[in-house]
Amino acid sequence: MNIARRTMNAPALAAVYERAWRPALFYLASGRTTAADRRDAVRTLRLGGAQRVLDIACGPGNFTRYLSNSLSGDGYAVGLDYSAPMLARAVADNAGPRVGYLRGDARHLPFADGSFDAVCCFGALYLIPDPIAATREMIRVLAPGGRIAITTSHRADTPFGYASRVVGGWSGLRVFDNDTFPRLFAEAGLVDIDQQVHRVLQYLSATRPA
Ligand SMILES: C[S@@+](CC[C@H](N)C(=O)[O-])C[C@H]1O[C@@H](n2cnc3c(N)ncnc32)[C@H](O)[C@@H]1O
Repeated sequence: MNIARRTMNAPALAAVYERAWRPALFYLASGRTTAADRRDAVRTLRLGGAQRVLDIACGPGNFTRYLSNSLSGDGYAVGLDYSAPMLARAVADNAGPRVGYLRGDARHLPFADGSFDAVCCFGALYLIPDPIAATREMIRVLAPGGRIAITTSHRADTPFGYASRVVGGWSGLRVFDNDTFPRLFAEAGLVDIDQQVHRVLQYLSATRPA
């Protein structure tokens, strides 16, 4: 297990992730605040009503509960993560009437095809050993007409981008090319593909045709 994956399994990180680690590191990497990322997640996933939402690699549930706040009726959000310490924090800090958490591997989702109206994965594909398989799994469980959104690393040709690649390579984080995910989405038949680059992070969203 590399440094990045070991870190995600540390109870000490789980304890500070939502309040300190994520806001600081993601602001440095993208220039964006967690509040802006949360608002954009709700907007790009087009959340509302009785939708079924899946948050892959949910960490301490810092997005899962926020996403569930946009739902009503029978709507619910499921957060899935591999790390037991992260899930323990999710249950302690981000429980709610429309939220549930599940331990699992993003590469083999325990859900039937088309089970969710919205599927997201923020800040984790660069940690997952087979990120392409994990993305295909996200698309598989997405219902026709559903929305997908991801945030991951981006290969920027700047000094900052070069430094991030060096740190990434050393720690075990992957850095993705500009066209990896747009091409994967298009090959899977997704439409309305949108890609935004902020410093060394990329934000993508798309729709599975109805
Ligand atoms: C940096 S946190 C992201 C938390 C949250 N999504 C966010 O954007 O702040 C990355 C999470 O990915 C999880 N993870 C890594 N590999 C995974 C896998 N194969 N399956 C499920 N979760 C995984 C880690 O346990 C960790 O909680």
